[in-house]
Amino acid sequence: MTIAKPAGPKLEVRGVSKAYGRDGAVLSVLDDISLVVSEQEFLVLLGPSGCGKSTLLRILDGIDTPNVGSVVLDGKDVTGTTGNGRAMVFQSFELFAWRTVLNNVAFGLEVAGVSKVSRLQTARQYIDMVGLTSFQNAYPHQLSGGMQQRVGIARALAINPSILLMDEPYGALDVQTRDLLQDELLNIWEKQRKTVIFVTHSIEEALYLADRIVVVSPRPGRIQQIIDVPFARPRSAEIKSDPAFLELRREIWQMLKLGVKV
Ligand SMILES: Nc1ncnc2c1ncn2[C@@H]1O[C@H](COP(=O)(O)OP(=O)(O)OP(=O)(O)O)[C@@H](O)[C@H]1O
Ligand SMILES: [Mg+2]
Repeated sequence: MTIAKPAGPKLEVRGVSKAYGRDGAVLSVLDDISLVVSEQEFLVLLGPSGCGKSTLLRILDGIDTPNVGSVVLDGKDVTGTTGNGRAMVFQSFELFAWRTVLNNVAFGLEVAGVSKVSRLQTARQYIDMVGLTSFQNAYPHQLSGGMQQRVGIARALAINPSILLMDEPYGALDVQTRDLLQDELLNIWEKQRKTVIFVTHSIEEALYLADRIVVVSPRPGRIQQIIDVPFARPRSAEIKSDPAFLELRREIWQMLKLGVKV
């Protein structure tokens, strides 16, 4: 007899539209987004500034709600429900300035009512994972941007979310640090295989990280195209100069420039 592997989370976005009222007018931000994200998938949302990527991520996180449509996790409607196995990493880090690295990472577990001994133990484990062991008692202002974002990632992972939502987490970092953190993230993902939904402006970053890239059109954001990324894993930085990589990068660039399928 074989024992079936427990199914991981399957996230479905069903016909999500979002508009905001502004100056008496209605600003349509997302238009009829439907998407199925599989268990353990690394999905990247790529699109121009203002096309609604952060709005979509906030809706997936449950901190914002769509006007139309729903978010369904494992067959259950979770639209607008926070704290349901999803964790967010932000571009601007959003760490608590008055908490040490250790207490930042332990924060989500504290909110969840985990005992102090247990939450600090878990937090240390994730701090080790992102290579900040000797900085656990430092405060955010004592860290570089790259280190702060490592704390952000450790904080998100510490609550053991089934889905990790990352909103341009490396957007504020220099290119070298960004490259380093991409590799660290891929290493962690290879080990943990969480579902990741990652927003970026960078075509190269999208191609390097993703299983699939969802290209979002200029506002109101619609799904313009979904691209299966053909590169084998584990990936290393050399593929960024591979002719197939460069060709796909060129095609996606063209697609974004023209705002149409190519
Ligand atoms: N709470 C809000 N109230 C009113 N308008 C909003 C709100 N949040 C977002 N918007 C508008 O929705 C549009 C999309 O914003 P969003 O932040 O989702 O874009 P984005 O794709 O993440 O852009 P960027 O790549 O620059 O981060 C923008 O025009 C923005 O002004
Ligand atoms: Mg954004």
